[in-house]
Amino acid sequence: MDVLGIDIGGSGIKGAVVAVETGRLVSEHLQIKTPRPATPASVIKATGELVRSFDWHGSIGCGFPAVIQDGMVKTAANIDTSWIGVNARDFLQRETGCVCSVINDADAAGLAEMVFGAGRGKMGSVLILTLGTGIGSALFYQGRLFPNLELGYLPLEGAPAEHYASAAVRVNEKLSWVTWSKRLNRFLNHVERLFSPELIIIGGGVSSRHKEFFPLLETRAELVPAGYLNHSGIVGAASFVTEQCHD
Ligand code: BGC
Repeated sequence: MDVLGIDIGGSGIKGAVVAVETGRLVSEHLQIKTPRPATPASVIKATGELVRSFDWHGSIGCGFPAVIQDGMVKTAANIDTSWIGVNARDFLQRETGCVCSVINDADAAGLAEMVFGAGRGKMGSVLILTLGTGIGSALFYQGRLFPNLELGYLPLEGAPAEHYASAAVRVNEKLSWVTWSKRLNRFLNHVERLFSPELIIIGGGVSSRHKEFFPLLETRAELVPAGYLNHSGIVGAASFVTEQCHD
């Protein structure tokens, strides 16, 4: 079964058609900029345009950078606050005419990594962290997801950790790899003290540069880059459509 996977992020909206049995992309991968301000109207319109450029009429799975419960947006950290209380799934369905599922973007990335990527076959506690505009997190135990974990909100230096240690912070504050890694270490140590994951998988665009900073990180857990690097969100959002059919 092919599903159009969409990953709505703080800076870009990406999509590709995914064969959900294998987790492979079976179309080209397209990306547009997330409109600013990232209001429901502007983001849904831009996502609709992306969907139309695939000439897609099948199912859509969409990852979204917020707490999502039954399609409904519950938080807004890197998106416009007017998203809170909006049913993203219903809006997307109306815009595209397709059957849509919506899931937190890090949960989507985690699903892809656990089924097809770096967490495949791991039954212990596995934490996926996506480092991008914010810090996304997804925790699995025995292959099952605890949804909507928001570790990027953990306080560090009096503010949410994602304001201190996300990949965007490294770029915006022009931090060296060493300085950024020190910040990331503080975050990772905090998280390890709370959850003791056995494996930590790092995703997000910066994971393709893991050779620059992994040697500087100190974790008790095994640390690996995401198998899909920056595509896990698309693959996981698409897979979520079939996951839901099983529930
Ligand atoms: C949001 C999370 C999201 C993460 C990564 C955070 O700002 O609160 O829900 O998973 O960014 O996009």
